[in-house]
Amino acid sequence: MFRTNLRLVAVSALIALAAAMGNGAETERAEGIMGMSEEIALPPASISGCLEKILAGRRSVREFTADSLTQQELSQLLWAAQGITSTEGLRTAPSAGATYPLEIYAAIKRAKGLTPGVYHYLPSSQALERVSAGDPTAELSLAAPQECVREGAVAVIISAVESRTAARYGDRARRYVQMEAGHAAQNVLLQAEALGLGAVPVGAFDDANLQSFLKTQNNVYYILSIGKPRK
Ligand SMILES: Cc1cc2nc3c(=O)[nH]c(=O)nc-3n(C[C@H](O)[C@H](O)[C@H](O)COP(=O)(O)O)c2cc1C
Repeated sequence: MFRTNLRLVAVSALIALAAAMGNGAETERAEGIMGMSEEIALPPASISGCLEKILAGRRSVREFTADSLTQQELSQLLWAAQGITSTEGLRTAPSAGATYPLEIYAAIKRAKGLTPGVYHYLPSSQALERVSAGDPTAELSLAAPQECVREGAVAVIISAVESRTAARYGDRARRYVQMEAGHAAQNVLLQAEALGLGAVPVGAFDDANLQSFLKTQNNVYYILSIGKPRK
């Protein structure tokens, strides 16, 4: 929390400085956009609310301590990804036609009271089912050879059963599923920030190795490496 507050003070100072300098940075006109006229200044964004503070405080964190996550923290992160939030079964992240193609895994290295291993998240019962037991560090590092993945206490991994969405949307499903993976990933990143944890999204991995690690043939989209931040 202290770290988050310090970061927010720094972010607020930067925003105030940018506002004092006029419109902040040089005008950035997007490539490929034509027919634009003059720039119209908007009021500065407020970062006083809870969500705004979390959005402003989120940064990719790649260095973690050797501490474990608590089960409550893990539960919260997985709920943020795909938890059920309505009696009809709707979830924390939007889904095209509520087809819910995403399947979430947790590769657990250090979580209090849980045996290290690979687990599959069950949103309807807010529970885990074990896919494999044993320290997942070596095999996960083979699929995603980055220090930030090696160091994290837990990796939340987003995969999907695309056919659920394709049954309704055909070829458009591939795009929809990728969008949904982004929604779920951002939810996890913001939840990590709200819990005072560090997290980094990782897109550089070997699909086949990651699928074999998860024991699935479903497509894999994202790794979120999470732990207690080192600084
Ligand atoms: C699709 C995607 C893939 C990414 N893959 C990696 C990765 O493989 N390794 C890594 O360290 N960071 C990765 N990142 C994190 C970006 O480097 C990071 O978001 C960017 O530098 C902006 O910093 P910020 O997240 O602190 O705002 C990825 C981010 C996105 C959106």
